[in-house]
Amino acid sequence: MEFFVVQDAEAAGAVGAGLLAAVIRSNQDAVLGVATGGSPLPVYRALAGYGLEMSRVRCFALDEYVGLPAGHPESYAEVVRREVTERLSLDPANVFVPDGSAADPERAANDYEAAIAAHGGIDIQLLGIGHNGHLAFNEPGSSLESRTRVEDLTERTRQANSRYFDSPADVPGRCITQGLGTILEARQLLMVVRGADKAEILHRALTGPVTPDCPASVLQRHPHVTVIADEGAAALMPCTATRVAAASV
Ligand code: PGA
Repeated sequence: MEFFVVQDAEAAGAVGAGLLAAVIRSNQDAVLGVATGGSPLPVYRALAGYGLEMSRVRCFALDEYVGLPAGHPESYAEVVRREVTERLSLDPANVFVPDGSAADPERAANDYEAAIAAHGGIDIQLLGIGHNGHLAFNEPGSSLESRTRVEDLTERTRQANSRYFDSPADVPGRCITQGLGTILEARQLLMVVRGADKAEILHRALTGPVTPDCPASVLQRHPHVTVIADEGAAALMPCTATRVAAASV
């Protein structure tokens, strides 16, 4: 596992974008796994600055709320459209998000899993981590082998995400999420974590037991993981040479 400590969001974006750019340069047909949430946003902004030819790049989102009407500004379909598709000038036909407004969300989840496989799997998957250790919307208790499926959101996650909505009651209670087993099949994982409030859970995920109680602990089972953390999020991690090197990015 590579672990970079950076000073701020801009530096996190620069390091993350550099890693994505390397994947895209080596394969114009790369399949990116994209995450919403606050931490990965600087990565997309920095990647846009590379001006790479990305017309053949495909993207798959990690998750989506169930039950928001199509076009809702806080649906992940809309967040991905604004922050990823438009920012990077991707072909919208190459960008996939689970269909959270489908009449049959379970079927939409299965179709999404099949679509990832049909596109050859994900080359590099961006990730964040929740305060409770969730990975995508895999909440504590999720099977480490789980596949893309419909899940309930915990109150803690709904509370954390209420910052994007007018009121906590507006945050949907269900989601479609890539499973932990699905995520582990991506060829490379890239986690971006910011803020001292994530220090404890990051430390637990990377150094504690691999357990459904902390879904992000599955990262320990993947052979190619890069974590980019700011000083606050990395505060409980052991000091490494990488940390010093990356601090000046
Ligand atoms: P963040 O959230 O990117 O806003 O830190 C990640 C998550 O809750 O999964």
